[in-house]
Amino acid sequence: MDADAIIIGAGACGLMCAVQAGYLGKKVIILEKGSKAGAKILISGGGRCNYTNLFATDEQFISGNKHFSKSAFTQWTVADTIVFFETYGIRGKEKTLGQLFPEDKNAKAIVDLFAGLCEEMGQEIRCDTDITDIIKEENSYTVVYQRSGKEQRLRAGKVVIATGGLPIPKMGATDFALRFARKNGLNIIETAPALVPLTITGKEEDWYAQLSGNSVFVEISNERISFEENILFTHWGLSGPAVLQISSYWRAGETININLMPQEDISELIEEERKFNGKTLLSTLLNRYYAKKFTDALGKFMPLGKQVASLTKSEMEAIHTTIHLFRVKPAGDKGYDKAEVMRGGIDTAELSSKTLECKKLPGVYFGGECVDVTGWLGGYNFQWAWACGFVIAQGI
Ligand code: FDA
Repeated sequence: MDADAIIIGAGACGLMCAVQAGYLGKKVIILEKGSKAGAKILISGGGRCNYTNLFATDEQFISGNKHFSKSAFTQWTVADTIVFFETYGIRGKEKTLGQLFPEDKNAKAIVDLFAGLCEEMGQEIRCDTDITDIIKEENSYTVVYQRSGKEQRLRAGKVVIATGGLPIPKMGATDFALRFARKNGLNIIETAPALVPLTITGKEEDWYAQLSGNSVFVEISNERISFEENILFTHWGLSGPAVLQISSYWRAGETININLMPQEDISELIEEERKFNGKTLLSTLLNRYYAKKFTDALGKFMPLGKQVASLTKSEMEAIHTTIHLFRVKPAGDKGYDKAEVMRGGIDTAELSSKTLECKKLPGVYFGGECVDVTGWLGGYNFQWAWACGFVIAQGI
């Protein structure tokens, strides 16, 4: 045997798995397709890496089996993530909504930490490898790969598939895990881009485009979920945290509801204003809550130049509906080029929730984004990847 386990993919899950296995005295070799480890960690959180979320529970994850992640999150908690990084001098600072970033360091410090620990522990990371086959033997697996034009082989009792999801193909994302699963008869939950901007086309496109760069705090919702965060208007539609969050719950053809003033009631605000200063223009009132450009754009739906005292009942109703039930029907999403994660993946029914070992392929483990567990925006997906890395390291 060349190692206790071969880990495929030097990303968040694979690197954490290698380090945790090292603590337990287990030798692993990581095979990475790219030229360096942790490429996605490096670009995460705008280069600052939102590495966990203080409020993470299994509730912020989408999966065919919503209970599946519970075991991993019990074995490796948010506190474990915080202590792990603090032990090596990376202290966390909450930015907003529980999102933890390194206080005075960046994403590179996180990748350097893993690379350094792997080196110290003798956990080898072999980059620029192209895996061509995984051959099952009686009590082991042989991984066949090409490197520098030569075919090479590694044999180990366990194989860990931690090759991530499909987003950002130009960074080397592959469908390796999905192909391997399909070839071995494992079920896959349909995949799609998630945490992804949504596009608007047709006659409404110009209305959104004129607001490009403007952001508004909203409540965004559909029948499944709601989020209170900012939306960002762009030349092609909508982005910003609220839109990324709802995109993971959106299906093509569906309409999304946006409450443009979640913390106030526009009808009450107008009634109040009427009592004391009925001559206030509707635009003046709205400008207290929105940037002028956004108020001006709302002129398409309401009489901005009218005094609040003279608004008719039907105008009041239209204003209320526009502000509190603004309905958007996206044309589509920006696809894997712009998605932060992939929804769907290896069906959790194929895996043990306690160990992440594949039931049909003993000795093979799947972890991280390739599994049908998708987190919200805000550090949740790394928490899942670290937890998988830890759990798998116990089993290999
Ligand atoms: P990950 O993608 O990290 O690693 C997979 C590794 O496998 C890669 O190194 C890849 O090259 C390698 N690989 C692929 N195919 C292979 C093959 N055939 N052979 C060998 N190796 C192969 N999440 C979060 O919680 N906080 C954040 O701030 C962000 N920010 C963010 C920004 C952007 C722009 C993106 C695209 C994503 C995020 N994410 C995030 C999501 C987060 O990056 C993601 O969920 C984790 O990296 C998933 O960890 P994995 O280890 O599963 O895959």
